Amino acid sequence: MSVKRRDQVSGQLTTGHEWDGIEELDTPIPKPFVWGYLIAFLVALIMWIALPSWPLPSSMKWPYITSYWQGLLGSDAERVERRLAELAAQQKAFDDKINKADLAELVNDPKARKLLMPAGAVLYREHCAMCHGPDAKGQPGFPNLVDDQWLWDGEVEGIYTTIKYGINSSHEETQSAEMPGFLKDESLTKDQVRDVVEYVRSISGQEHFPEAAKRGAVVFEEDGACSGCHGEGGAGGLGVGAPNLTDKHWIYGGDRDSLYRSIAEGRKGVMPHWVDLLREAEIRQLALYIKWLGTPEKQVAKVSSVSIPTTAK
Ligand code: HEC
Ligand code: HEC
Repeated sequence: MSVKRRDQVSGQLTTGHEWDGIEELDTPIPKPFVWGYLIAFLVALIMWIALPSWPLPSSMKWPYITSYWQGLLGSDAERVERRLAELAAQQKAFDDKINKADLAELVNDPKARKLLMPAGAVLYREHCAMCHGPDAKGQPGFPNLVDDQWLWDGEVEGIYTTIKYGINSSHEETQSAEMPGFLKDESLTKDQVRDVVEYVRSISGQEHFPEAAKRGAVVFEEDGACSGCHGEGGAGGLGVGAPNLTDKHWIYGGDRDSLYRSIAEGRKGVMPHWVDLLREAEIRQLALYIKWLGTPEKQVAKVSSVSIPTTAK
């Protein structure tokens, strides 16, 4: 038989359970817990009504429950979608402006330069820096983009085309150029390759063996063996993808080993195409960015004929 009674020591009621003379106190739940529970319950109830919550049946056909309680305040997801649509519209207005503008004009516009450089830098860091280096000065196998020495057309439209379709890329409109392997395809002997290496060192102002270089010069110019692509005297500038060999800028290196390998085995660098990965306006901004990077700011003409809106409101 259990009897509830008041405990002598604590003054609390007992539960009435007793075992071998030991009784259990009936301590009430502390007030803050009770209130906390009630408040949490109320908040949940209010949110349940205010926000999208319960699934609701919407028809008498399978799967029956295809709707949900929309909530008195509406859903955050809808607000986010609306905001995204707004941003996309702003983005499109901005893109349209850039896509319509004439690149050759934009490149000479100091205002556009100031406005578009930061965005170009972000795009460059994300998509190009891993190959062309963080400062666009290239690295072995990847050309320097700021030395104003171009394999292909170095005007802003030409750079745009290169970025869009690539070089030796998998796009059908790619620019293609290959340095043949002259030892590999047996058009030159090892000795002739060595001679031509000395000649290339001589025209690029490096220490060389004059006798060998003289013999190499003959090979170089003979029937345009080299000059046909690299220009007379190796000065490049033909816009066919073959670099200038008379400056100190090398893609693969100007030391004897690298030159020997370039000439003996050939080279075929691949620049990917970006037309499928980047928006048109992004490719245009990158072309401008690359052109601006290699052009000192004071060379940009003062005339400003185009205005680009900022996206930020
Ligand atoms: C996977 C490495 C790689 C990435 C990424 C890459 N490039 Fe290139 N790029 C190359 C190589 C290699 C060449 C030189 C091809 C050759 O030797 O013929 C090149 C050449 C170029 C040229 C031509 C230079 C000239 O002298 O005519 C431009 C311009 C260029 N890249 C810009 C860019 C831009 C802008 C990006 C970023 C969107 C980019 N590249 C991303 C590898 C890359
Ligand atoms: C069919 C055109 C063509 C001919 C002919 C040609 N080259 Fe090239 N050469 C190229 C191209 C294109 C490149 C750039 C390859 C690349 O970047 O992947 C190149 C690159 C080079 C390089 C590497 C330059 C660097 O910056 O590292 C050297 C050196 C070179 N050629 C020397 C020669 C010599 C010497 C000959 C003659 C024996 C010759 N080339 C004949 C097209 C040609």
